[in-house]
Amino acid sequence: MLVFSGSSNQTLAKKLAKELGTRLGKMELSRFSNDEVRVWVNERNPGKKAVLVQSLSEPTDRNLVEFCLIADALRRLGVKRIIAVIPWLGYSKQDKVFRPGEPLSVKVIAKMLQVVPLDKVITFDLHNLAIPGFFEVPVVNLSGRQVFREYCAKLVTTKTVIAAVDAGSVKSSERFSDDLGGVPVIYMNKIRDLVTGKVVYKSISEPVKGKHILIKDDLISTGGTLVAAVKFLQENGVGKIDVCATHHLYVKGAQEKLDQSVINQIMVTDTVEPKSDSKKLKVISVARMIVQEIGI
Ligand code: R5P
Repeated sequence: MLVFSGSSNQTLAKKLAKELGTRLGKMELSRFSNDEVRVWVNERNPGKKAVLVQSLSEPTDRNLVEFCLIADALRRLGVKRIIAVIPWLGYSKQDKVFRPGEPLSVKVIAKMLQVVPLDKVITFDLHNLAIPGFFEVPVVNLSGRQVFREYCAKLVTTKTVIAAVDAGSVKSSERFSDDLGGVPVIYMNKIRDLVTGKVVYKSISEPVKGKHILIKDDLISTGGTLVAAVKFLQENGVGKIDVCATHHLYVKGAQEKLDQSVINQIMVTDTVEPKSDSKKLKVISVARMIVQEIGI
């Protein structure tokens, strides 16, 4: 079984192929002169089953098209079963119609991804647990918590509390608390302006003075949530702040903002190809988790 990689996350795809004891399928990815995506799978006998790795990270729309075209090329070469590894499912933040007139984007993207039939989809920390329902095939929603747990267990002290930075992160923060042997969870009341995207914090469920804060979020996009959360926590007198976030989208300026904040360390995974050498950032690979799911 070969691993085929789109252009979005070749480092993870290579790791995956190595861990699976196979290799990357040969492929040429380029552009036609009119800028359309050009795909050529350069394997005459790719086998009946293949793994296709592509994160829907920036440039998201191009990576989406690339995924669909590679899947089509594989089918035309006789591949019957495609296991899609989409570590970061782009557009998943638009998981609701927030205002009349908006699309239910992630549902449309799910349909587009399946324009060529897939066997199953392996992904990580979906923004909303209803998203698998938009797919016709099984979706395995793995969690970065597994890799963070090992790392964060060393950081926990009697002063540690997990801060759930918004309503959406409550469940995953509570699960993370269980993972770490029952570290207390505190809840923060976040409000985001739907037009400007600006985040403000209104309140916190209990006093946090002198506490070591651990934040577990699903993603870092603009960094606005973390910067606002950290500022609010600081105003409330906390001590050290460490952050775990499964997906770092490396939106322009986000890492710089986080570097200037008082955050001690930011642990992320490689669901999105790392694009920063910040000293605050620690990237933990999820390759082994994917291999366990695929099975050797
Ligand atoms: C919110 O629902 C998410 O869990 C993240 O907190 C948020 O999407 C991060 O985005 P940003 O970095 O732009 O604030």
